[in-house]
Amino acid sequence: MRTILETTEDGSHTLYVPELEEHYHSTHGAIQESMHVFIDTGLRHCNNEHIHLLEIGFGTGLNGLLTLLEAEKLHKKIFYHSLERFPLTETAAMQLNYPEQIATGAKALPVADEKITAQLFCLLHQSHWERATAITPSFTLLKEETDFSHPEQFQPPRQYDLIYFDAFAPEKQPEMWQETIFQRLYTLCADNAILTTYCAKGAVRRMLQSAGFIVERLPGPPGKREMLRATKMKTLLKAQ
Ligand SMILES: C[S@@+](CC[C@H](N)C(=O)[O-])C[C@H]1O[C@@H](n2cnc3c(N)ncnc32)[C@H](O)[C@@H]1O
Repeated sequence: MRTILETTEDGSHTLYVPELEEHYHSTHGAIQESMHVFIDTGLRHCNNEHIHLLEIGFGTGLNGLLTLLEAEKLHKKIFYHSLERFPLTETAAMQLNYPEQIATGAKALPVADEKITAQLFCLLHQSHWERATAITPSFTLLKEETDFSHPEQFQPPRQYDLIYFDAFAPEKQPEMWQETIFQRLYTLCADNAILTTYCAKGAVRRMLQSAGFIVERLPGPPGKREMLRATKMKTLLKAQ
């Protein structure tokens, strides 16, 4: 897939896909969107010490990098399983300014050192596909090249505590926003698992609900009114 590098309003890069007329992130700010939707609203609400996380769409690796840095801060262990249909080339990934922006940009994180962050970002991209790799003692990455809309291609090793649902928008890839996809995601969730997505469409909210999730509509990142967080509530009813 051909992509064009662009700068978003918070100074961080995103990629534009001419074929889809779609960006990888909000043009109002890639880092601030990722921090808000996945870190603040997802990761920080997951109470487990060890988190098994599933990401749909590894893409630029921005969510992975922010999650790794946050896990260090929160003293959590993360197994980060990320699926990607169209892996970026390493050359394209290395042009992204995330390490610099995370360390010194408008949305800089207080703890991030630019050189170390750049090394970690490189490792995320250089790690082998289909092989679990310990990037740090608390963050293991498993990248898998697969098409999540084809269930037979993905054999999940276990259930997940947290899901980052970060596919392209429903108008651009409707096959990823179908009832069957959300039913599958529900079965992939452990009790009390959380799923977050930047998308706040009523149709998506209703599909998540009918799959079994309890869904909250929450304030979105700058430039977007709302986003969704879905929780698989542990059943309170005893089996008869
Ligand atoms: C909105 S971008 C977000 C990517 C990434 N999370 C990031 O921050 O860069 C959507 C990503 O989902 C991937 N994708 C699209 N369809 C997919 C599918 N059927 N299975 C797995 N990944 C898919 C795209 O290639 C792209 O990398």
